[in-house]
Amino acid sequence: MADQQTEKLDEMRKRALAGGGEKRIEDQHRKGKLTARERLDILLDEGSFEEIDAFVTHQTSDFGLDKNRPLGDGVVTGSGTIDGRPVFVFSQDFTIFGGSLAGGHALKICKIMDLALKVGAPVIGLNDSGGARIQEGVVSLGGYADIFLRNTLASGVIPQLSVILGPCAGGAVYSPAITDFILMTRGTSHMFVTGPNVVKTVTHEDIDFEGLGGADIHAEKSGVAHMVGDGEAATLHLTRKLLSFIPQNNLEDPPILRNDDPYDRGDDELNTLVPLNPNKPYDIKEAIVRIVDEGDFLEIQPNYAANIVIGFARLGGRSVGIVANQPAVLAGVLDINSSIKAARFVRFCDSFNIPLVTFVDVPGFLPGTGQEHGGIIKHGAKLLYAFCEATVPKLTVITRKAYGGAYDVMSSKHIRADLNLAWPTAEIAVMGPKGAVEIIFKKEIAAAADPRMELDKKINEYRTKFANPYVAASYGYIDDVIKPAHTRHRLIKGLALLDGKKDTMPPKKHGNLPL
Ligand code: HXC
Repeated sequence: MADQQTEKLDEMRKRALAGGGEKRIEDQHRKGKLTARERLDILLDEGSFEEIDAFVTHQTSDFGLDKNRPLGDGVVTGSGTIDGRPVFVFSQDFTIFGGSLAGGHALKICKIMDLALKVGAPVIGLNDSGGARIQEGVVSLGGYADIFLRNTLASGVIPQLSVILGPCAGGAVYSPAITDFILMTRGTSHMFVTGPNVVKTVTHEDIDFEGLGGADIHAEKSGVAHMVGDGEAATLHLTRKLLSFIPQNNLEDPPILRNDDPYDRGDDELNTLVPLNPNKPYDIKEAIVRIVDEGDFLEIQPNYAANIVIGFARLGGRSVGIVANQPAVLAGVLDINSSIKAARFVRFCDSFNIPLVTFVDVPGFLPGTGQEHGGIIKHGAKLLYAFCEATVPKLTVITRKAYGGAYDVMSSKHIRADLNLAWPTAEIAVMGPKGAVEIIFKKEIAAAADPRMELDKKINEYRTKFANPYVAASYGYIDDVIKPAHTRHRLIKGLALLDGKKDTMPPKKHGNLPL
């Protein structure tokens, strides 16, 4: 190779690495943001990034763009490893045309998505973009649609993670929305379909970027964001951790990470975790961290619909997806938001061969016009459908209440759960004692000399007779009643037993999930 050719290559590489230039990089840092390449350095194993398409440029001449053809076209793409496992990445470069998406930019993203699908490896997108590049018009819109199609085709085949590290606005939000998880950074990332100015014009509401689509809004109110990091480094480390629980694709099992936590470790504190008074709350997360390996529980959407808890952990080194009613919030009742939150998580775990461990303490579905008129019927059905459909190993532990339809929904034996355990404190019945006796003993209570005393008497009788796990166990709906202290050991043995589980759905194009 002639010196001249080497020099040309070196010069081109230098230009590509320079992004939008020093001034714009300084602006980026001043906003508290890292550059596209700095982010990849944190996300990926050191030195593992292999870039492709560094020399792609836009092909437009309108609006004077022929005088400005930055290399890379506003996105850095390629592959690397996380904990030694291959991943494909794109990282939008805000220093070039505000990271806006146009023909070349979209082509680069599509190329790595196509490769990822062929190889069977996750795609991680780092989003920081002003949206469709206005100068390229309809080509930008086409580019987005090309990505949306690939997001959809790859859904359930390879994991797709979206990390939002700057603006993500307009139709651009729909790519992250189709992916499996959205992570945002507090203070510097924003997602919305229409920005504050349009909102002001149309609805006359005064709202800023943060209030409209900041990380906390999406983590607490809309449920769009699954995790939030304080600072970009924290968000990127969360992304790495999340990936550690997930297999490379739908044909693989999640990685097994052995650890020193004894598989048969008992925990006597669990025996007294559930209060004697059935109306007293307790924190189900305390049970979860006591049961899982090394107390390590990665909670997803912790601040959204907190009456249900979802997240990843390991049992005996195996990844599990945990779904748990939270008696400490709204008594663990199922409502619209918690049903949707858990349903999507259950479907993710099932898509990617991650066994489901479900902890049940649920008084039923939330009553009220807000819920009924909001469509709790169809939204609650999503969770039921998701659990019914799931063919991964399903293990269920009823810690206290399992009443009414919610008993059926929460991974009951009847909907193909494999191992159904109950603690001695479990109460499994059509409804709680008070509601039940008020219906079936209505006349007797009304006719009694002291209706209040009669009601209490009937409640106590009902509680003794029905509010326990043994009626369900007598029908085989519960496989065993266990001491809470032994839960970890029983779950790990159950998971080992179910390792080779095979279950299928009848052949179909796809089901019709109640949307
Ligand atoms: C072309 C863009 C751009 C865009 C930003 N830039 N967005 N160039 N197309 N969509 C350029 C700016 O001109 C500027 O260039 C540089 O990027 C940095 O932008 P600033 O405005 O200086 O940065 P900041 O103050 O941080 O504001 C960022 C921003 C703002 C909030 C994203 O730029 C903005 O509102 N942009 C427009 C957003 C938008 O409406 N996009 C279209 C959405 S519709 P110079 O050369 O001055 O540095 C959409 C449809 C998708 O995306 C449909 C898919 C189906």
